[in-house]
Amino acid sequence: MLRHSTQRDDTGRQIPLYGPEGFDGMRRAGRLAAATLDFIAGHIRPGISTGALDRLCEGFMRDSGAVPATIGYRGYPCASCISVNHVVTHGIPSDEKLLAPGDILNIDVTPILDGWYGDSSRMYLVGEAVPVLARRLVEVTHEAMMAGITTIRPGATLGDLGHAIETVARRERFSVVRDFCGHGLGRVFHDAPQVVHCGRPGTGVVLEPGMIFTVEPMLNAGRAEVKVLSDGWTTVTRDRSLSAQFEHSVGVTETGVEIFTLPPAPSASSAVLAGLPV
Ligand code: MF3
Ligand code: CO
Ligand code: CO
Repeated sequence: MLRHSTQRDDTGRQIPLYGPEGFDGMRRAGRLAAATLDFIAGHIRPGISTGALDRLCEGFMRDSGAVPATIGYRGYPCASCISVNHVVTHGIPSDEKLLAPGDILNIDVTPILDGWYGDSSRMYLVGEAVPVLARRLVEVTHEAMMAGITTIRPGATLGDLGHAIETVARRERFSVVRDFCGHGLGRVFHDAPQVVHCGRPGTGVVLEPGMIFTVEPMLNAGRAEVKVLSDGWTTVTRDRSLSAQFEHSVGVTETGVEIFTLPPAPSASSAVLAGLPV
């Protein structure tokens, strides 16, 4: 039976607490999300369409026994979100959108494996000639996500996590998007707690063993404001500045944190693409 914390998040919802079975299910779903993001790295090149990348991700997830959570989610049509350059999040893959040298892009996948949702995204660089600012934004966004994840342990707060992310972004004069948050997940896609990527230390939900949620900060090279295009999904920076995002699904353990969506067997090349320490 699913237990709940006595705490509620900012939206007033109860926060589920998972046991060993939940952690095991999330480990398997998370590993598959990571494997999908590893696999797709080998297909990123100038001239390929985001629609083609989406079909490759879908095939990989289905061949692994999973169902892509995003297809039909609130009417969303695809197996992944692919957000290029100034697209902040929820870019809809399309056969018309071709990658060009120097582009940066985020690919976000959520396979459902045996009922468990593994949600993760990474940034990829197209070709060798990616401008310094774009590379820097990608590196710092990964650093910000990991700084947030590093704060996670029983007794720490979601305010601590948000503050750590914001501190890294500010140091580099990048802005943190306020309009989208991380979220609880497990047997559902989007659950409590809401995970804001900024905050004040010591405030907000106090973390307890068994909480499972995503950390998925979006950083912009320019201002934080975003707008949603007329398709109802594609979200872009208002000032058309570049945007980057990374996402891990994590669980609070008795002593700290477990990252469910780390790559199963990190290869040097995918680590470089992902901005991870090699
Ligand atoms: N995977 C996204 C997240 O990180 C959600 C995408 S919902 C979709 O929460 F419908 F846009 F795919
Ligand atoms: Co998510
Ligand atoms: Co996601």
